[in-house]
Amino acid sequence: MTRELRLRRPDDWHLHLRDGAALRAVLPFTSKRFARAIVMPNLAPPVTNTALALAYRERILSALPPGARFQPLMTLYLTDHTSGAEIEHAHASGAIFGCKLYPAGATTHSEAGVTDIARLEPALASMTALDLPLLVHGEVTDAQVDVFEREARFIDRVLAPLAERWPQLRIVFEHVTTRAAVEFVRSARPGIAATVTPQHLLHNRNALFAGGLRPHLYCLPVLKTEADRRALLEPLAGGDIRFFLGTDSAPHARAAKESACGCAGVFSSHAAIELYAEIFETESILPRLQGFASEYGADFYRLPRNQDEISLVREPWSPPASYPYDGGELVPLRAGEPIAWRLQSAPA
Ligand code: DOR
Ligand code: ZN
Repeated sequence: MTRELRLRRPDDWHLHLRDGAALRAVLPFTSKRFARAIVMPNLAPPVTNTALALAYRERILSALPPGARFQPLMTLYLTDHTSGAEIEHAHASGAIFGCKLYPAGATTHSEAGVTDIARLEPALASMTALDLPLLVHGEVTDAQVDVFEREARFIDRVLAPLAERWPQLRIVFEHVTTRAAVEFVRSARPGIAATVTPQHLLHNRNALFAGGLRPHLYCLPVLKTEADRRALLEPLAGGDIRFFLGTDSAPHARAAKESACGCAGVFSSHAAIELYAEIFETESILPRLQGFASEYGADFYRLPRNQDEISLVREPWSPPASYPYDGGELVPLRAGEPIAWRLQSAPA
């Protein structure tokens, strides 16, 4: 059995870092493991323009532990009013690597998101011209649609027509959760990719109700069936370059999760690459991990692959029941239960 795993240093292509004390609590977990991360813009208020994104970037850099080498790759939050000029400004800044489409009402802090895709025409035209990728939260918000069907309906109603309307636009279908999404990406035109989270690879929807309600496994899109989970593993096993690592690590304080109306989000940054290693080992596809974690995402974003390495050792450890978080507690994925791989060394 492999005991040590050396990997080109990975990147996280979908991450929620929050702000202020919460940012300071979670950022060190990511900067220890990942060289770069695509940082989601769903703050309150959201990061809707270049000035806000550059200021947020500075706050992230100031919150880094001393000596850490980590590059936040910023994103813009698209609204019904994002102009083509704003996209040009974002692109010219050199610090913004994508624009995020949240359908209004789909998830945490998405109220200011897009109500009708037709309103995005000026922004999409500009993004296409500048080759700035569109990052998509792929769920319809129609309350009539079953919560487990919202990703599949989004493909038919929004994503497929969008990909056809803008054939040159590069698109990342974020946190895919269903066979329908996997099939869409695999059969799509060039320029369409997807990120895959650890929780959707580890769990199916039964886990949400195992022995009682499990708020710490509640995220959006919600966990799906076992058949869907297996479908997510197929492109990873095949080394499909269109599928790459994006944790969607999304911290919320324990009190906000364990509530009559609990927030959506799974926190995984404390053990992200370790959990992916465990998944790839369980599937007997460990040799595929480096491409997924450290290469395909960089290639898609047209950024250089990292040149340094991290090393993991096969030595089980258990994360604590919680970490301190902004005056409260943060319950991590796999809290108090063993994870097969431990991070052994990483550059500063
Ligand atoms: O579970 C989720 N949490 N899904 C999202 O899309 C947003 C995220 C968050 O920001 O908490
Ligand atoms: Zn997210």
